[in-house]
Amino acid sequence: MEAARPSRTALRVALRRAAHQIHDRPIVFEDPIAVPILGTQYLEDLRRTPDPAPGEKARPYSIGMRAYLVARSRYAEDALAQAVANGTTQYVLLGAGLDTFAHRNPYPRLRVFEVDHPATQAWKRELLAQSALPHPPGLTYAPVDFECESLPGRLAASGFDPTQQTFFAWLGVVPYLTLEAFRATIRFIAAQPPGSGVVFDYGQPRRVLPPNEQLAHDSLAARVAQAGEPFQLWFTPSEVACELEDFRALEDLGAYDLNLRYFANRADSLQLRGSAARILSARL
Ligand SMILES: C[S@@+](CC[C@H](N)C(=O)[O-])C[C@H]1O[C@@H](n2cnc3c(N)ncnc32)[C@H](O)[C@@H]1O
Repeated sequence: MEAARPSRTALRVALRRAAHQIHDRPIVFEDPIAVPILGTQYLEDLRRTPDPAPGEKARPYSIGMRAYLVARSRYAEDALAQAVANGTTQYVLLGAGLDTFAHRNPYPRLRVFEVDHPATQAWKRELLAQSALPHPPGLTYAPVDFECESLPGRLAASGFDPTQQTFFAWLGVVPYLTLEAFRATIRFIAAQPPGSGVVFDYGQPRRVLPPNEQLAHDSLAARVAQAGEPFQLWFTPSEVACELEDFRALEDLGAYDLNLRYFANRADSLQLRGSAARILSARL
């Protein structure tokens, strides 16, 4: 991403989480801060997001993307709940964007570290201040550019304890990284104490997609490139499994599994479409 500018894709993701709170019933990912964090500045963008209610003229691509983003956040927080029950005391959000977990944290002993590009993090903090959302106890910010700065060094300087069992969420970030940056972060996570874990999402390469999805892939890739954040990294499920050989309990879910888990028996059209995007969790 461009050095001096906050992430535009982080805003798009946050707008969809906010739209989910307004339009979709039942709610799959409860986030009472998703709308307030946007303040008044992005209300017009929020108004333009489609409503998938029966009878409404929904835009299927946009609705499918919203379902994916909602499922991704829900899956991460479901996995975190399990990790906390198993002894995790630190939660690190890598590329946190406008994620609001720290403001809803129900676990008194869980410390939260938000790691993000300095420009995105500064913008988020301005939005929080404008919306008068108080700084939650237990949250620490750690600004890092994954491509050229040391994640371990920045986390250590922020008070991260490497002896504690830790859960990492790395949502919507991997496709924007180089393979070297991805591997450096995976090596760091793999060096954490037993019981630590990670959840991240990734996209499959164009060559393995059916022709109609190749067109959707090209269109999304063009839009994120135009936003200054081009995709650079794709994996097939077997390729990503090879990158994670130090981990166990791999769960790698596609649209079919996520629809069954989170969107079954709905009256509206909220569900994932296509096979490109996948969400994965793994433990040490
Ligand atoms: C699509 S947004 C996802 C935000 C958030 N995880 C969510 O799900 O709402 C991508 C995030 O990755 C961060 N990011 C991208 N490249 C980065 C880099 N080189 N260093 C640090 N953060 C980066 C952006 O600042 C942004 O917050």
